[in-house]
Formats: sequence, C-alpha cells, structure tokens
Amino acid sequence: MNNIVITGAAGFIGSNLAYLVSERYPTARIYLLDSLTYAGNMENIAPLLRDDRITFHKIDIADPKVVSEFFNKNSIEYLFHLAAESHVDRSIHSAAEFVTTNVLGTQNLLDAARHSKVKRFIHISTDEVYGALGATGKFHETTPLDPTSPYAASKASSDLLVLAAAKTHGFDALVTRCTNNYGPYQFPEKLIPLFITNALEDKALPVYGDGQQIRHWVYVKDHCEALILVAEKGITGEVYNIGGPEESELANLTVTTEILRVLNKPISLIKRVEDRLAHDRRYCVDISKISNDLGWTPKVDFPKGLELTVNWYLENQDWWTKIKSGEYLDFYQKHYGKSL
Ligand code: NAD
Ligand code: TYD
Repeated sequence: MNNIVITGAAGFIGSNLAYLVSERYPTARIYLLDSLTYAGNMENIAPLLRDDRITFHKIDIADPKVVSEFFNKNSIEYLFHLAAESHVDRSIHSAAEFVTTNVLGTQNLLDAARHSKVKRFIHISTDEVYGALGATGKFHETTPLDPTSPYAASKASSDLLVLAAAKTHGFDALVTRCTNNYGPYQFPEKLIPLFITNALEDKALPVYGDGQQIRHWVYVKDHCEALILVAEKGITGEVYNIGGPEESELANLTVTTEILRVLNKPISLIKRVEDRLAHDRRYCVDISKISNDLGWTPKVDFPKGLELTVNWYLENQDWWTKIKSGEYLDFYQKHYGKSL
C-alpha cells in the first residue's frame, strides 16, 4: 500500500487506524480526511502530522465538488472510509445529517474514487445494520439487513451502495461490519468513555432501561488490524463481520459495574434512566468468515482492553475535560437532560 486515504481520520476509530497504518506502512503517503464535526478532533491526529508523508485535509464528504477535486489531484490506491455520523441517540433526535453524510457522502466518495481509479475501497460499517438479536444466535454476513435506528438505517443504505458499485461497475469495494468498539480517543458520548469519565468526576452513570441489553465489545486496535487485513487480502464485493472475543459479549450493567470496580467508585453512581427508543436488545457477530478466510481473531480480552482504556482516560484528562465542557454539554443538557 502506497497512497492511502482514511476518511473520518480525526474521529475515534479513524485516528486509531491512522496510527496503525502509519506504523505498518512506514513509507506510504497517507491522507487524513475529515470535516471536523463535533466528533472530529485534531488533537487525535496532531502527532502524526509531524511526519511529512502524512497530511490532513478538511473535507466534507457530503460536498461532491470538494470530494472530486481531492481525488482528481491525488492519486490514491487504498481508501478506508470511516467518516460518518455515528451516534444512535443523536440519530433518534435528528436523522437528516445521518442521511447526508452516511448515505450521500458515501456515494460521493464512491463516484470520485471510481472515476479517479482508486484501487480498493474499504467501507467500514457496523453490525447494527442487522437489527437486534434475541437471547441466542449470531449475525452472519448473510443475515438480512433489518436496521432499527436512523443511524443503522443510514449505514445499511451506504453498505448497499458500496456493494452496488462493486456489482455494477466492477469497482474493487468491500464492506466490513464490526461490533461495538472501545479504546483511546472515543468521544465521551458512547457508553464506555461516558461512564469512565462520569465516574472519574463522581457523576451519575445513566443506564438506559433495565441495563440488560447486550453488546459484543471489541478493542479498537483489534478492529483496525482486521481492517488492514481486509484491505490486503479481502475479496472484492464481499462483506466481512468483525467482532470481539466470545466472552466480550456483555450486558450494559455488567460493563457499568466493571468500570466502577476498576475505578474503585461506588455502585450508587448508577442511575437508571428512561430507555432509548426502540433499543436493540442484543448484538453478537459470528466472525468465522474473517477468521477462516483471512486468519484474523481478536487478541485483546475485555478485562485487558478495559484496563488499557481506563488508563488512557486517566492519563488524558485534558483531552476529555475540554470536550465535556463545550457544545457537547449544551447538546446533552438541552436534549436529554442527562447528568454529564
Ligand atoms: P466518530 O463519530 O468518532 O468519528 C467519525 C468521524 O467522521 C469524525 O471525525 C467526524 O468529524 C467525521 N465526519 C462526520 N461527518 C463527516 C463528513 N460529512 N465529512 C467528513 N468527515 C465527517 O465515529 P467512530 O466511532 O470512529 O466510527 C467510525 C466509523 O466506524 C463509522 O463509519 C461507524 O459507523 C463505524 N463503526 C463504529 C463502531 C463503534 O463502535 N464506534 C462500530 C462499528 C462500526
Ligand atoms: P452506545 O455506546 O451508544 O453504542 P450503540 O448504541 O451503538 O450500541 O451504547 C452502547 C449501549 O449502552 C447501548 O445498549 C445503549 C447503552 N447506553 C446506556 O445505557 N447509557 C448511555 O448513556 C449510553 C450512551 C448508552
């Protein structure tokens, strides 16, 4: 891989991927694209930009003109597409931005990438496109799409557009669908970073409904390793599920009590709040395809991953206290009345 684009590079997974790609391909030219929404943070990637071969480009993927100008100017081989509106709660509040960025933005990128002869397009998606599971079973790549939230519906739409580009135009595009990630640089609106930082501030941890919803957690570095493998060895037009180790399938209340235990904070910080609308009960993916075909398995178990994550938030208090005092706080107080 020589000329690599990462969209959404100033966000959580994008920045983690940028570090890994820069290590793995020490001579590659790397273009970090992001429009810097509330979730994009230049601090996440600032150290990388000291390296001459890595550049940042403030680009809104929803703007087809700007997107095609970029691809006409730069000869790109591999494109990892992570830019997205990514938070379910925000999509319930207002879905339009999710359609603009996740659906139209993805199509703009597909058009520009295809016309400028990008070699391979890796579209990073989510297991949430499959909908919700009951107490048993797992999502397979062939499971019908049945998204619940506007976020998941917009991601399902983008997945279909990517697969259509592969089928219609023979464009070398692939889709990955991963379970819930956690780790450094995750914006503190998602469960794990919100609860770690709230606990550190002795604020309430707002658990939705009965807290028995299940998520299948994967440490972000494991996800990024899988993405590089898919880029190198995946088959055009295929979908690859990515997920955590089996024992990382955990109920929200279990994750919450683990966070409190690791931080030595009292259980009394847990506050049961109103449930999320149409809250998906359980996600869990079958990873046998990526494991058998490409040889990937997750390496980091949940206790180790949580320790690494908690330590990162402990060591980077400036990073999250700044975020938690800005637009973020206003948004949540206004729309959710959350105790943040
Ligand atoms: P994030 O919200 O932390 O980051 C998204 C980034 O995209 C931000 O930097 C934001 O500024 C940028 N962005 C948003 N709209 C843009 C636009 N119009 N143009 C350019 N940039 C724009 O999200 P994340 O958690 O890092 O997720 C990255 C990708 O991975 C998303 O596509 C998401 O659907 C997918 N995914 C996330 C998870 C998870 O658990 N976080 C799991 C599976 C898949
Ligand atoms: P989240 O991190 O938003 O990811 P997703 O909705 O994509 O799975 O939420 C993870 C789980 O935690 C989900 O079941 C909703 C729940 N949750 C809470 O109980 N309280 C919260 O404040 C948040 C943000 C999430």
